[in-house]
Amino acid sequence: MSNDIRTIGFIGAGNMPQSILGGMIKGGYPASSIIVSNPSRPKLDMLEEKYGIYTSQDNHEIARKADVIVLSVKPQLMREVCEDLKANVQGWEDKLIITIAAGLRMDSYYEYFGNNIALVRVMPNTPSLVGEGVSGLVADANVSTTDRDFVTRVFDFVGITIWLEEEDAIDVLGAVAGSGPAYFFEFMHTLQRAAEELGIDSEQARAMVQQTCLGAAKMASESDFSLIDLRKQVTSKGGSTAKGVEVYQQAELGKISQRAVNAAVARNQEMAKLF
Ligand SMILES: NC(=O)c1ccc[n+]([C@@H]2O[C@H](COP(=O)([O-])OP(=O)(O)OC[C@H]3O[C@@H](n4cnc5c(N)ncnc54)[C@H](OP(=O)(O)O)[C@@H]3O)[C@@H](O)[C@H]2O)c1
Repeated sequence: MSNDIRTIGFIGAGNMPQSILGGMIKGGYPASSIIVSNPSRPKLDMLEEKYGIYTSQDNHEIARKADVIVLSVKPQLMREVCEDLKANVQGWEDKLIITIAAGLRMDSYYEYFGNNIALVRVMPNTPSLVGEGVSGLVADANVSTTDRDFVTRVFDFVGITIWLEEEDAIDVLGAVAGSGPAYFFEFMHTLQRAAEELGIDSEQARAMVQQTCLGAAKMASESDFSLIDLRKQVTSKGGSTAKGVEVYQQAELGKISQRAVNAAVARNQEMAKLF
């Protein structure tokens, strides 16, 4: 546990900030250094009771008290929330701003706050809600190395962090890690259906598929072999796995994945223009 403890203020108390701050506290970050604002009380009451953190319905108060601000409202509310913060709170050049809003580009925040802010844009994915996320991060030139280390630590509490050089790469990360859980669920569903078609009970088929997926992911994450080498290691020549894999290869699974990712990247780029 690093001793870089800063007061971190979440603006918005939805599912994603709840997971991040929950992960931080579980990982040993002091609850007394985490503060949150949200317009309505129920989530704040729950967070106060569960973690003993300080909460407020006043965004200004939380932004004033925080050294690091995590902007956690929906993208469509971001302009209104940021312009209101900028108009009512001083000292933005001394704070580190982190945004987790999907789609909204860094340029938008310079419009809201001016150019001399230190800004990190983070794209967490939904498995962060269960502590197994992938967060893609981009920082601007005002973000110091110690700031980067701090942000890495925050998002490592809910999974892994991947720093990207260019903001455009966030669209690719979104198309792979952001959309990826849906691709895996779709694929898992098709395997479950295939087992059911051959007479396996639905619950058993689901258990087989999800545990196999979990096991394969664990093997991959614990191994130094490439993914293709791991695949080869479980594919004996002339065996049943080889027959199954051949069917996927004939259907050109690689090209299908490329098309899926390209389509999602294109949509991310289109959506970024909507804000
Ligand atoms: N969930 C994900 O998997 C995921 C993944 C990547 C990125 N993100 C990003 O994370 C951000 C938060 O998402 P979420 O899933 O946590 O959303 P959410 O569960 O819908 O929560 C949004 C929260 O914002 C609060 N809010 C509304 N107006 C506000 C204001 N003026 N000031 C402060 N808070 C306000 C809402 O309060 P009330 O309940 O009182 O209305 C609500 O608690 C979004 O920008 C999203 O793009 C989420």
